[in-house]
Amino acid sequence: MKTQILPALPGHPHIAYVDTSLHIEQVNASAIAETFGTPTYVYSRTAIEQAARQYMDAAARSPVKVALRYAVKANSTLAVLQVLARQGWGFDIVSGGELQRVLAAGGEAGKVVFSGVGKTAAEMRLALDVGVECFNLESPNELAVLNRVAQQAGKVAQVALRVNPDVDAGTHPYISTGLKSNKFGIAQEQAVALAMQTALLPHVRLVGIASHIGSQITSVEPYLDALDKVLDLVEAMERKGAQIEHIDLGGGLGIRYSHETPPTPQDWLAPLLARIAARGFGHRTVMVEPGRSIVGNAGALLTRTLYLKSTPAKHFAVVDAGMNDLIRPALYEAEQVVAPAEVRTGLALHYDIVGPVCESADWLARDRALVLEEGDLLAVLSSGAYGMVMASNYNSRGRPAEVLVDGASTHLIRPRETVEQLYASERLLP
Ligand code: LLP
Repeated sequence: MKTQILPALPGHPHIAYVDTSLHIEQVNASAIAETFGTPTYVYSRTAIEQAARQYMDAAARSPVKVALRYAVKANSTLAVLQVLARQGWGFDIVSGGELQRVLAAGGEAGKVVFSGVGKTAAEMRLALDVGVECFNLESPNELAVLNRVAQQAGKVAQVALRVNPDVDAGTHPYISTGLKSNKFGIAQEQAVALAMQTALLPHVRLVGIASHIGSQITSVEPYLDALDKVLDLVEAMERKGAQIEHIDLGGGLGIRYSHETPPTPQDWLAPLLARIAARGFGHRTVMVEPGRSIVGNAGALLTRTLYLKSTPAKHFAVVDAGMNDLIRPALYEAEQVVAPAEVRTGLALHYDIVGPVCESADWLARDRALVLEEGDLLAVLSSGAYGMVMASNYNSRGRPAEVLVDGASTHLIRPRETVEQLYASERLLP
């Protein structure tokens, strides 16, 4: 029960209040909602480029060669990929679909690494045909299939072994990948033998080692632990005659959603590169695959309040975006800042911000102090990563529009999906 003060938005560069109106770069959020409707994802091009630039600067300063590969899964909209391709980034993909997106956006196949635990033979063939730089392999059987597919294609596939270093990344269990109990990676005990096996196969060439321990990680320590284990394996493999040309550190650097204080890309990369150099591997290429830390805080989901509803238990703000549009709160209990587009003064109530989908898990935020009226526009911040890419059509809801702001210009980069598009390919019975 207090007067609302203008919220500070730390960690959200280029999304800020000008007077009492929320702006994305120079564009008023309310104007975007007027023009394009809601719910709409809006991204700041400058914020994406600046986050990418932090990695590029760290790479440029390092004596160790660093190859930057954006993890497409975080946000795969063509215009977003295009922004990064134009900055010279390569890409980390996990499906043939992501590969086609990268190519459609102007990315170079020769700077694409193909990750993922379940690549199909058809996806491998596509990747070989366009000439991706490396397949990150996760099992002996996958190695055998790739060798066969490469033989059929008359090619030699470059491969890295993704090992599971068994470290606790200290993140949500659903987004932790580097524990023994996770499905990801090759067990350390099996990695050297598998490296030896690749030498016997004529259509694969072992060039690298990879690990990815999880996502939304907010300290460097688990990475250093994983790196030491990875470098131990490189030493063991090379003692047996293998030659490991690159070391892929994966992605996973966290962002500030509300109170987290993750290291900057520079502060994350510097100690890892220093450790690699100190252990005598400074002449290898180091690959990194960041996703969230490039796009996460460059995006917001704009949604309009449909109804304010108070029960004896709670105050609810029912908004027009639901868990089908942004699933992170429902799936990971993610806490994302909700900022009003126009700040009102008056009596703040504590609202649960919920969507129109018929599920009790359909909430975007809980217990937020806001001064609200029906029709008010809200922005769910930190929605640039794992937002639109995880959106679904549940309840026959078309997915949101996407808008990219560049200075004072606004570009509609994906129109709102229509219901007709949802059932366009369906067939009625005869
Ligand atoms: N490389 C590999 C092999 C990955 O599996 C991932 C993410 C990345 C790179 C990029 O990680 P990032 O830098 O974005 O943390 N949907 C979840 C996140 C799942 C991440 C899966 N793998 C969420 O919304 O939190």
